[in-house]
Amino acid sequence: MTVATDPVTDVLLGLYRRAPMELVRADGVRLYDAEGQEWLDFAAGIAVNALGYNDAGVKQAMLEALETGLVHVSNLFRTAPGERLADKLVAASFADRVFFCNSGAEANEGAFKMARKWGKLEGGVAKHEILSLRGAFHGRLFGTVAATDRPQYRNPFRPLAGGIHIHERDMTELARVISDETTCAVILEPVQGEGGVRVLDTGFVRELRALTAERNVLLILDEIQCGYGRTGTFFAYEQFGITPDLLTLAKPMANGLPMGAVLLTQRVGDAMQPGDHGTTFGGGPLVAHVANHVFDRLSDAKMLAHVAKEGKWLGEQLLAIKKRSPKVRAVRGRGFMWGIDVTDPAKAVVARALDQGLMIVSAGDHTLRLLPPLVMTRADLRIGVEKLEAAIG
Ligand SMILES: Cc1ncc(COP(=O)(O)O)c(C=O)c1O
Repeated sequence: MTVATDPVTDVLLGLYRRAPMELVRADGVRLYDAEGQEWLDFAAGIAVNALGYNDAGVKQAMLEALETGLVHVSNLFRTAPGERLADKLVAASFADRVFFCNSGAEANEGAFKMARKWGKLEGGVAKHEILSLRGAFHGRLFGTVAATDRPQYRNPFRPLAGGIHIHERDMTELARVISDETTCAVILEPVQGEGGVRVLDTGFVRELRALTAERNVLLILDEIQCGYGRTGTFFAYEQFGITPDLLTLAKPMANGLPMGAVLLTQRVGDAMQPGDHGTTFGGGPLVAHVANHVFDRLSDAKMLAHVAKEGKWLGEQLLAIKKRSPKVRAVRGRGFMWGIDVTDPAKAVVARALDQGLMIVSAGDHTLRLLPPLVMTRADLRIGVEKLEAAIG
């Protein structure tokens, strides 16, 4: 089998260089093509399928939701599943209010609008600037791409949305540019994902939290990739000893059904009035019913302990590969979220991994990214690590 990427052969807009195999089935932590060829999943649909595939509980939740006949009613009417999930998210976090949407970029766009509205009420139109950090990825929509630090994602679309600036992850620079008068919010990923799996320094995050609080600037945490259990605590911020003013979520919330959320404090929520923001589909009864099940599973102490323990073991195995292989330059990560800097082009290693029957993703030209389903056992992690080492070469 060859897994070299082939040219676009269909009418889908050619935005992705997709691997040529066609997946027809998945079960547990494995995916299959029509011939029965299997791949062990160290990608989880880019940090989405935390409970893997064909999960009995997820299936049951989908069936329960379908039985009510209520797939969608719009946000003009009340339905219980979204309200129940919002209560759980508030009980589990710093937040007082929740807004549901459909994707990560949409969650961040919503958070930006909330921060802008709050800033305007606090300090007038001047208090509108949003700062993000070197290495950040916050999405591909118009506001979020301006906060995303990848020239190839940004440059084709200039001029970008105004008032959004990227700065170094450096407190001296940030202390210079964060202003009570002109800044409404700073956004960061506690563990940068697409930017190379970089766990931000705890001291830096704490100092930035203190500085934003002191200057009456909101802190938005983007936990779309690193939250919801992936790094071994339900929210990544728990490991940094801070709380934000807003937090965005998406990927694993409904284990593959589209869902996003913004969590926020009452202070920020008070700035938003009916009509200030909206979404047709967000938090619909089917997706929210499934998301209640996913929340219960992923917030369970045993699940989080599993990710913390097995994630530590996985990190140790990766560091051992680094010792053995001159092709590995660095290993970074936490829980079930790891980045590996390699000398070969990441694309080539990803293709070789597919040849080995292992799905991984990249995070930049020379960084591999491992995002296994959070339910993966030690035995399967071990198989994946062996395949990975063979693919690195
Ligand atoms: C940290 C982070 N923020 C935002 C996004 C955008 O999410 P979506 O692709 O659902 O719009 C992603 C997606 O990879 C992400 O990793």
